[in-house]
Amino acid sequence: MQDDPNLIVGLDRADDAGVYRLNDDLAIVQTVDFIAPVVDDPYSFGMIAAANALSDVYAMGGKPITAMNVVCFPSEKMDISILTRILSGALSKLTEADVTLVGGHSLKNEELKYGLSVTGIINPQKVITNSGAKPGDKLILTKPLGIGIISTAIKAGLVDNNTELGLIEQMAQLNREAADIMVLLGVNACTDITGFGLIGHACKMAENSGISIQLSVDKIPLIDKVLQFVSMGLVPLGACSNREFYSSQVNAGGTEEELMDVFFDPQTSGGLLIAVPPQKADEMLDRMKQTYKKAAIIGQVLKKEGSRLIFR
Ligand code: CO
Ligand code: CO
Ligand code: CO
Repeated sequence: MQDDPNLIVGLDRADDAGVYRLNDDLAIVQTVDFIAPVVDDPYSFGMIAAANALSDVYAMGGKPITAMNVVCFPSEKMDISILTRILSGALSKLTEADVTLVGGHSLKNEELKYGLSVTGIINPQKVITNSGAKPGDKLILTKPLGIGIISTAIKAGLVDNNTELGLIEQMAQLNREAADIMVLLGVNACTDITGFGLIGHACKMAENSGISIQLSVDKIPLIDKVLQFVSMGLVPLGACSNREFYSSQVNAGGTEEELMDVFFDPQTSGGLLIAVPPQKADEMLDRMKQTYKKAAIIGQVLKKEGSRLIFR
């Protein structure tokens, strides 16, 4: 029933998760997300997939409460102990997030995929969407960019151990504290940065909010060494399709192509992009930095103009 008045955020809004009102004080936030392995270690993959699946609930300011496993597993060519380790990794993150695993579904499949369907709760008056950004708002990004590029470099065997461990740690880091801070201080809009990259998700925020976004290139946090890998051509296919799809909405100014590759780079379990009223921006950033070391104010919201996204 797509005209159901209790459907607060549905398919038409292209937001992070669906929100359905149960009564005046309570709504449920629902999302499902499953991914192919991004790292070799099964336990780490489980942690990352769980953090990634929980993220859409956090991006809306919700509190996740239950989750269900979604498993595609090639049981003919892979030992079942690998699945056990993936699920343990995920469970460790669910435990950290105070989320109860209530079930799941698995399917024999040629390729390994894993993720979760997550249900959260939220006050229906306090739902944060990607459509509330207002001219004058500052934009905060909580995690540095380049996950897809570094993952590509890892697959090519070009990444040292420390960089790989750092990447795993970043992807497995929950967006929960960021959600807590948003709810505490109040924000106008939020989205998490995932497959469409910074540019794709910022464009969606601009489109849904009816505004334009200006980003300061030199303020956008990047994962160490990411430009080095871009210059070696280690750009994932997803960055190219994002570029193809979103280029026409973007005024790149004089931004170097290699930097644009990072801004188009698809992220797995990326950070949050938050539009916050200017008077709250510094306090929010200070609080964010306690958990997310590279969080930064990366730009501002403008009145709608020709391009949805303007770099300078
Ligand atoms: Co999302
Ligand atoms: Co998602
Ligand atoms: Co079933």
